[in-house]
Amino acid sequence: MAEGKVIPTRDSFGRLQDGTEISRFTFKNKNNITVRIINYGGIVTDILVPDKNGKVVDINLGFDDIKGYEARHPYFGAICGRVANRIAGGKFTLDGKEYQLAVNNGPNHLHGGVKGFDKMVWKARVDDDTLVLTYVSPDGEEHYPGELTVEVRYRLTNENELVIDYTATTTKATPINLTNHAYFNLAGQGYPNIDDHVLWIDAYTYTPLDQNIIPTGVITSVEGTAYDLRTPTRLGDRLKYVNNGKGYDINFCVGGQLGKLTRVASLEHPPSGRKMEVFTTEPGIQCYTGCNMATGVFGKGGVEYQKFASVCLETQHYANSVNQPNFPNTILRPGETYRHTTVYKFGLTA
Ligand code: GLA
Repeated sequence: MAEGKVIPTRDSFGRLQDGTEISRFTFKNKNNITVRIINYGGIVTDILVPDKNGKVVDINLGFDDIKGYEARHPYFGAICGRVANRIAGGKFTLDGKEYQLAVNNGPNHLHGGVKGFDKMVWKARVDDDTLVLTYVSPDGEEHYPGELTVEVRYRLTNENELVIDYTATTTKATPINLTNHAYFNLAGQGYPNIDDHVLWIDAYTYTPLDQNIIPTGVITSVEGTAYDLRTPTRLGDRLKYVNNGKGYDINFCVGGQLGKLTRVASLEHPPSGRKMEVFTTEPGIQCYTGCNMATGVFGKGGVEYQKFASVCLETQHYANSVNQPNFPNTILRPGETYRHTTVYKFGLTA
């Protein structure tokens, strides 16, 4: 084993209803952090991290078995694509041709459609310290143009970083926007609120939404709004002022130069001392604090997940970019390579 690297091990996570066996990969680093990932949806199933006293809990919402993930759930830990987030009316025009995708979220297309990348069985192999997941999305899948070959590389370092590298190539021009949709609660998954979490997002601007939860197209300053998280903010003090008490479900335009890995957000939980920092090459973070969480979703250990009891920090391009020429480009063309890196770094508060 190479010195200093965390080599994943593989076991079975059971079978889908159609009999397909799903593999689970476990990374355990020298600081007692464990991350588990399955090749169904590229889902991060568990993230176990110690608190300031060494007590380890799982901070990532999800299920104990494959049955939970195969049933309907709000994208726990999953890779979302071909286009994560919303496309207005599921419609777009590309090189003069109109496309109509599935409408699976009110009037909109969400997270790749009826069967997005979160529900696919990915090919998996271990390359040294990296889990390499590949998926070939056929031309026309969910009515998207072009055969898209996607590779997602996961690794955990001894510096406590969960590194996610995404690449993709296509045979025809297509929109693309990939993210991981993990839900975090640093007090431990199943804890009934996120009030004591302190959130910092390095965004001077955000993209306000219309009544259909689609960005209006305006990129506006966070100054003087509930979207100003440039100073670390305790969520229990803030959420009631956000979107009539519904909390965050919106895109923040994060700092840094597009394509350059930059520290853009942090989430801290002072009572336990757990902390998570987010680094990304992407221009946006969809921050979602679980306002749509349905009641009756029973997660790991049978605990019923509550609304407003987790935080998603989905690094990505802005929602509906394909219809907004002033947003950073999401069109991938043949001969180009889509690249995105996001790092979730775990640690303790100072
Ligand atoms: C994203 C969306 C939310 C919600 C969740 C999944 O965060 O912006 O509105 O759909 O995914 O439920």
